[in-house]
Amino acid sequence: MIKKVLSVIAMSLVAVMSFGQLRLRPDNIEEIVKAMTDEEIASLLVGSKEPEFYFFEGTAAGVRGIPRLGIPATISCDGPAGLHFYPLRDNSDDTFYCTAFPVGTLSASSWDPDLMELMAGAMGDEVHEYGVDMFLGPGMNIHRSPLCGRNFEYFSEDPVLSGRMAAAYVRGIQNNGVTATVKHYAANNQETNRTENDARIDQRALREIYLKNFEIAIKEGHPGALMASYNKLNGEYVQQSFDLLTTVLRDEWGYDGVVLTDHGAKEGTVKAAKAGCDLMQPGNEEELERMLDAVKKGTITRAELERNARHVLRYIVSTPRFQEYKFSNDPDLKSHAELARKVAGESIVMLKNEGGTLPLRAGAKLAVYGVGSEDFVAVGIGSGHVVAKHVANMRESLTDAGFELNQDLAGYYKAYVELDHATKRVAGAMDWLMYESWGYGKKVSEPDVPLNQLPQQAAEADVAIVVISRDAGEGNDRSMIDDYELTARDRKLIRLVSDEYHAKGKKVVVILNIGGVIESVSWKNLVDAILLPWQPGQEGAYAVADVLTGKVNPSGKLTMTFPVDALDHPSSANFPAFPQRGESEEGLRKNIDYTEYAEGIWVGYRHFTTREVPVSYPFGYGLSYTTFQYSKPVVKATADGFTASVTVTNTGSVAGKEVVEVYVSAPSGGLEKPSRELKAFGKTKSLAPGESQSLSFTVPAFDLASFNEAVSAWETAAGKYQVHFGSSVEDIRATGSFKVKKARFWEVHNVL
Ligand code: BGC
Repeated sequence: MIKKVLSVIAMSLVAVMSFGQLRLRPDNIEEIVKAMTDEEIASLLVGSKEPEFYFFEGTAAGVRGIPRLGIPATISCDGPAGLHFYPLRDNSDDTFYCTAFPVGTLSASSWDPDLMELMAGAMGDEVHEYGVDMFLGPGMNIHRSPLCGRNFEYFSEDPVLSGRMAAAYVRGIQNNGVTATVKHYAANNQETNRTENDARIDQRALREIYLKNFEIAIKEGHPGALMASYNKLNGEYVQQSFDLLTTVLRDEWGYDGVVLTDHGAKEGTVKAAKAGCDLMQPGNEEELERMLDAVKKGTITRAELERNARHVLRYIVSTPRFQEYKFSNDPDLKSHAELARKVAGESIVMLKNEGGTLPLRAGAKLAVYGVGSEDFVAVGIGSGHVVAKHVANMRESLTDAGFELNQDLAGYYKAYVELDHATKRVAGAMDWLMYESWGYGKKVSEPDVPLNQLPQQAAEADVAIVVISRDAGEGNDRSMIDDYELTARDRKLIRLVSDEYHAKGKKVVVILNIGGVIESVSWKNLVDAILLPWQPGQEGAYAVADVLTGKVNPSGKLTMTFPVDALDHPSSANFPAFPQRGESEEGLRKNIDYTEYAEGIWVGYRHFTTREVPVSYPFGYGLSYTTFQYSKPVVKATADGFTASVTVTNTGSVAGKEVVEVYVSAPSGGLEKPSRELKAFGKTKSLAPGESQSLSFTVPAFDLASFNEAVSAWETAAGKYQVHFGSSVEDIRATGSFKVKKARFWEVHNVL
C-alpha cells in the first residue's frame, strides 16, 4: 500500500510540475492543505517505519515527506534524559554519542526552572546538531505510586512543580529551533499493561492532578508537540478521546501544536484522527489503509483531515529539516558534560547528615562498597536511555577528587563488574544497553560482601561509602521486594559495614543511585549520612564527589514523598505491584485491565500532610551544609489572587542556596481540600554566610481554585487563605494570610 501511495504521489508530482511549482512555505499552509490529495493528506498523517523515512538507526519515528509540494520527511528521537539513538552507524566511522543528563526526577529536585531550561537547552542543541527535528520529551506523568517503573523519567507527585519544570524544559529544547514533546498525556501512571489499562479517575482528580501539570506546561511552555498516552481513560483510549485531545487540550487550553500517538498502532486509527490525534507514530501500512478506506467511505471528512494536516504542516515548517539547516553532527559534548555535572550537583538531595559527617575531610581514606561504585547507573532503561560515550563511576570521581580509595575493594568490584559485562554484553552491546534489559532491578547484582576483609578495611579507612544502585525501565513496574525494599544483600552490606565502622568510631555514608523511591525507614538509622543523586547522568558520580568534598553545597529537595511504608500511599490499594489481587476473576483483572484511582486527589503529600500520616522524608525535604532563616513574610491580596515576599538569610558558615516552597491552605467550608498545596516556589542565588535575598511570588486567583464537579467549574472560594513558606511541606518557617472577598468560578466543559 505504501508503494501505491508513493506512486500516486509521484504521478501527482509529474502533473503539478507541468503547472508550475507549489511548494510549502510558512505562509502558504492553507494553500498547500487545499492542494493536497486525500491520499497525500492520509500519508502525511500516518508516519512510517520504512527505511527511506529514517535517516539513521535509533530514531523513534518519521513523518513522510511529499516532494511535489516541497514537504520534507522529518524525524523524531527519544528523550527525556538526553537524545537517544545509536552511536554507531553502518555508513560511517564516526561516533554519534549523546550526553546523558540527569533523569527528570533529579533535575526537578533542583526546583530551579532556569537551570532546567539551561540543561534542556543543551539537549536541544544536540537534537539540532545531530539533525533531528522533534525530541520526545519531557516525560511528565505524576508520581502516583513509588512503584511506577518510569517515575525516573518524570518529575514529581505535585502538578505545579511538574508543570513548571516541564515548561522550563520545553523552552530550553525549543530555544534551539527544534520541537519538544510533552508526554504521556494523560494518566499513564503505571507500566503494567500500559497499552490497554483503563485508568478510571474522577473529574476532580483528573483536572487538579493528572491534567493540571500538562495544562501548566502547555500554557507556560508552548510545546510544539504532545504525545497521547497508550492507556485508556475512563473507558476510552486517550489517543481516541475527543474530550481530551480537542475539547480540553485545544478548546480550553488553547493548544496549537501537533498531537501524536505513543508509539505502536491501535485499531482505532480513524477514531483517533477524528478525535484530534494528528499523527500516527511510528505509523504503519494498516493504519494508512484504514485512513484511505475512511476517506473513501466518508467516515472521516475532508475538514477533519485538513485540520490535522494543518497542525502537522505547522510543525514541519518549524523544523530544521524544512529550513535546510546544515547540522554539524558535532555538538559540544564537552561543555554539555560540564553542564550535566553542574545540574546534578545542584539537584542532589541530602537526606541525612548526622553530626556533620559531610562534607568529608580533603584527602580522606575511603572504602567504597556496593557494585554501583563501579557500575554506576546514569539513566534508566528503555526509550529513556541515552548512550553516552562514558559514564563516570564513583571510583573514578572519588579518586579524581583527591580521596584515597581502598584499592583492594575497588579492584574487587571492578573485576566483578567486568566479568558480568563480559558474560552479558557480548554481541550487539548497544542493543543490550538500550533494549534487552528493559525491566526493573539492578543491572549488575550485588556480589557477596567480602566479609573477611571488613575489619581490616574499617581499620584502614576513615569513612565507608555504600553505593546502592537500581535500574528502572519502561514496560515494567517496580516490585516491592528486592527493588522498592532493599535486597537481602543490600541490607547485609549496610548492616555489616555500619557495625564494623561504628565500632571503630568511623562514619558510614550511603549514596542512593536509584530510579524510584525506596524503603528507607528500616536502615536509615544505621548510617550517618545519606545522599540521593537518583540516576544523575553520565557525570553524576562527579557531582556526588562535588557534594562529598563540599565543593557543592547540596540544595536539592525531594519532589515526592519517601513514605514509611509504600502501602501508606492510598494509591497502593489500586496499583498492580502490590499484592492485593485476590483469586476472583475480578481480582485478577483489577489493576491490569483497569485501575481505579479511588484515592482521588489524595496523591503524595496531599494525603500524608492532611491526614497526618508519618513519613520517612517529606515532600520538599532536603538538607544543606548551612542553615537559613526566613523573615516575617509580606502577603497581599491583589485584584487577582495574591503577591508575597519573604527574605531568606544564610545563618550558617558556608555559602548555600535555599528553595522556598509556598503552600496555601484554603478557607474551610466549601470543597474538601488538602491542608496545604504547593502554589509557587523559588530558589535563592548562592548566599554567602550572613547574606540575604528577598524572593517574591505572584499567584493568580485561578491557581487557587479547586475543581467543583457539581458545577463543572474551577472554584476559588471566598475567605481567608493562609500562605506558608516552607523548607519542606512539613517544615513551615513563616506564614502570612490574605482574603478573597468574593468566590470566583471558571466554567469548563462537563467532559471526561
Ligand atoms: C514510549 C515513549 C517513547 C516511544 C518512542 C514508547 O514506548 O512510551 O515514551 O517516546 O516509545 O520510542
